Amino acid sequence: MLLSVVAVLLLFSCTSGENPAIQVLLTNKGLQYGNHAGTDWIQGILESVTLPDFSGYVTYFPLVKMGFTLTGTQIKKCDLPEPSTEFYPDSTGFKTSLSGLSVALSGQWSNSFLGMHDSGTFDMAVFGVDVTSVVKLGKDACGHLSVTSVSCDARVGRVDVNLRGGTRRTFPRFVKKFRSSITPQIESRICPYVKEFIGNLEQHLQAMNVSFDVDQALTLDLALTSLPVVSVSSLSLGLKGEFYNKNPPPFEAPSFTVPEQQGYMLSMGLSDFTMNSALYGYYSAGVYRTLINDSVIPKCFPLHLNTSLMGPYIPQLPKMFPGLLMNLRVYATEAPVSSFQPDAVKLGFHGAIEAFAIQPNATETPLFQLSVVSNFSSKVWIAGETVKGSASMDNFTLTLVGSKVGPFKTDALEKVARKGVEMVLAKVNETLGKGILLPRLVYARLVDSVLKVHEGFVVLFSDAEVFTDRSFSSHTNRAV
Ligand SMILES: *[C@@H]1O[C@H](CO)[C@@H](O)[C@H](O)[C@H]1NC(C)=O
Ligand SMILES: *[C@@H]1O[C@H](CO)[C@@H](O)[C@H](O)[C@H]1NC(C)=O
Ligand SMILES: *[C@@H]1O[C@H](CO)[C@@H](O)[C@H](O)[C@H]1NC(C)=O
Ligand SMILES: *[C@@H]1O[C@H](CO)[C@@H](O)[C@H](O)[C@H]1NC(C)=O
Ligand SMILES: *[C@@H]1O[C@H](CO)[C@@H](O)[C@H](O)[C@H]1NC(C)=O
Ligand SMILES: *[C@@H]1O[C@H](CO)[C@@H](O)[C@H](O)[C@H]1NC(C)=O
Ligand SMILES: *[C@@H]1O[C@H](CO)[C@@H](O)[C@H](O)[C@H]1NC(C)=O
Repeated sequence: MLLSVVAVLLLFSCTSGENPAIQVLLTNKGLQYGNHAGTDWIQGILESVTLPDFSGYVTYFPLVKMGFTLTGTQIKKCDLPEPSTEFYPDSTGFKTSLSGLSVALSGQWSNSFLGMHDSGTFDMAVFGVDVTSVVKLGKDACGHLSVTSVSCDARVGRVDVNLRGGTRRTFPRFVKKFRSSITPQIESRICPYVKEFIGNLEQHLQAMNVSFDVDQALTLDLALTSLPVVSVSSLSLGLKGEFYNKNPPPFEAPSFTVPEQQGYMLSMGLSDFTMNSALYGYYSAGVYRTLINDSVIPKCFPLHLNTSLMGPYIPQLPKMFPGLLMNLRVYATEAPVSSFQPDAVKLGFHGAIEAFAIQPNATETPLFQLSVVSNFSSKVWIAGETVKGSASMDNFTLTLVGSKVGPFKTDALEKVARKGVEMVLAKVNETLGKGILLPRLVYARLVDSVLKVHEGFVVLFSDAEVFTDRSFSSHTNRAV
């Protein structure tokens, strides 16, 4: 009783039914492409595979069985017809039907009866293999995708076999019995193999990390937030999509719906929650604070952090503290907030600037404190395999919040500071202009992607290209 309560509590501590901030949608086009690429891939590995040993028996009289083993079985030829795969809402998964598979095999046989052994080689042709498998997708307590076999059905049409090399007197009889009993024995082994394959896949999924350290400050949590949703035309996965430093952000992911576009294999939606969780994570890690001294300011810039040169901005300062260098501490006073708006990404920044004079004995004397509110907009788009963007400043205001040198007007300072921010922004603009490469996996990449910014979320519609062995050497060839 206690154990089951603990188990239930553990379940709840691992996931709570929150909204996903990342949604991935696989369309029927994507499923069919995956099915095609998967068939190519399996066909490729089948040609070099050695099948596991096969132990069976033939029955001479009721209750008298002779065991045999087939070893070193290799596939000589295999015509793998492309299976049909469809979304299967009934089981929240997929249904795959393979029909008319034929395979030619060869290897060694051996048998043993009452301590007498016989052995030789064989050729075998298995015709008309039909397999139908239904798998169910789910989610475990910690947010891994899970896959289980729901049903499997296998039929073998006909088996032609040629055994050679037997030396015992019983050999001709063994061959006859072997021929008549091998078909159902092969048939009964297919589904256990299919289930084993799915079991291996499940083990891989369970071993996958659902969170990743992005850098020293941030971890990205990609656990599933809810069960996969399967309709007749798509599979949809909701991922948490939360960056965090030590603590999760103090705000929640809003719900959103990724529009379905059957013309693309994949749709990926990202809510501005993901961006904001990263901004918050960096904020709590203290990333948005910097010290600006005179040596980082370009010579040609109209402002220098020397009290004697601050006259145009703060008239009284050169008189009160002549000839001293200054430091500025700039930091965010709250986590920056971003929002996706139709065709633009907005960012708001609230910060403070503290100015100090550096005395000859290196003591810092506080001078004044300003608050900064600034808004930025950026546009993002896809060019080939890169996400590009441009950024601009919408608004920048400085307000005096405290002064040890008396009041002064901030207009002139605001103007020059805006100029400074614009210089930094030009560098950011340049980086965004060069773009960031779309994530690329070892065996796949995204092609023909389109990015669309909506209210509250951004969607990437894309096709994918899988490198099967044949096209892997030439990445530019589209696998068709
Ligand atoms: C999973 O995460 C752990 C800890 O962060 C790391 O040590 C391990 O290498 C990761 N495994 C994989 C397969 O990425
Ligand atoms: C000025 O700041 C830069 C960068 O923060 C730093 O490398 C340099 O040592 C500082 N110079 C002085 C004189 O403090
Ligand atoms: C500050 O500016 C004044 C006037 O140009 C100059 O004489 C002085 O050397 C500067 N101070 C420092 C520390 O650079
Ligand atoms: C500017 O940013 C501030 C701070 O994040 C935000 O409150 C405000 O709504 C933004 N204004 C505009 C016009 O985007
Ligand atoms: C440094 O110099 C300032 C101004 O001359 C003075 O007020 C302060 O006490 C001095 N600090 C130390 C530690 O000497
Ligand atoms: C900038 O913000 C201030 C105060 O929030 C506002 O009065 C002003 O109109 C804004 N300017 C622009 C260009 O948006
Ligand atoms: C950023 O680049 C875009 C074009 O890519 C340009 O229109 C814009 O003026 C640039 N902004 C800044 C601040 O450099």
